Amino acid sequence: MNNAVTARAHTNIALIKYWGKADPKLIIPQNSSLSLTLDPFYTDTTVQFDAALTQDQIKIDGQVLNQTAGQRVRDFLDLVRQRAGITAFAQVNSYNHVPTAAGLASSASGFAALAAAASKAAGLTLDQPALSRLARRGSGSATRSIYGGFVEWQKGHNDLDSQAVPFQETIDFDIQMIAILLDPRPKKVASRAGMAQVVATSPYYTAWPPSAEKDLIAMKAAILKKDLNLIGQLAEANAMKMHATTLSATPPFTYFEPETLAAIEIVQSLRNNGVSCYYTMDAGPNVKVICSAKETPAILTRLRQHFPADHLLVAKPGPGIAYL
Ligand code: PMV
Repeated sequence: MNNAVTARAHTNIALIKYWGKADPKLIIPQNSSLSLTLDPFYTDTTVQFDAALTQDQIKIDGQVLNQTAGQRVRDFLDLVRQRAGITAFAQVNSYNHVPTAAGLASSASGFAALAAAASKAAGLTLDQPALSRLARRGSGSATRSIYGGFVEWQKGHNDLDSQAVPFQETIDFDIQMIAILLDPRPKKVASRAGMAQVVATSPYYTAWPPSAEKDLIAMKAAILKKDLNLIGQLAEANAMKMHATTLSATPPFTYFEPETLAAIEIVQSLRNNGVSCYYTMDAGPNVKVICSAKETPAILTRLRQHFPADHLLVAKPGPGIAYL
């Protein structure tokens, strides 16, 4: 039980977004979602339970987390301890291989890696569906980071059936993303708080779950057809429907910043000039461009006229969880 276990999980970006919880404690979503796991952005986490420790010691990128910031991780470790029937505290060392300023869903890779490393270090033997369900308790999007490629999170109804399933782990057509990093500051409204506010107050929210479920069916068909344009159109429209719910919340808020609109305009103008590319955004101002590797050089050339080259990160599809 004293063994240190290290796991690597890659982040994922949703093409059909998860937005709103049916059960905030268990993190059961209001709608199913579908994502693409990305290769260059991942988290490596090492966990060791040690009876000699008097409290959990949690470090991210070499920095000790203070009591408040570490509470989510501690709560997650409590869940693992409870399931494994142990009481020892843990040493957790986590390294994010995601540019710190990226706002690229590090909670997805973070909690997926923590679920894998902590459960194994605690002596539990969990298969991938069970790991996916455990990761979900840390952060909804982490549910999907257990698998590579295109991944569906089936919303389910309870702790035992709300989990991700691989939709297409090995992708045999040309699709990737360019992440445009716009703002290094922490999000103004965390996804957890943002979606809760929307569910509680937006009169438009009731339209979201059925619309997202329809988008999901269409997205799965588009992936099977390897139709990049349709995938892009559906992802873009789905993301904007999600963002529309924030403007209609009370009080209203938005994740858009002026540079977000600048990025969107460039994507639209590239498209008007025959380059196939589409945008999506999560609970932050950064824009991710969905495109083919073939057209990436032309897209980067245009984006570099407006954004610094080191703010443009190209990401191919990536793999699922691995033990190192
Ligand atoms: O996993 P969370 O609680 O950070 O929520 C993620 C929500 C979105 O990124 C906006 C959408 C998604 O499906 O990843």
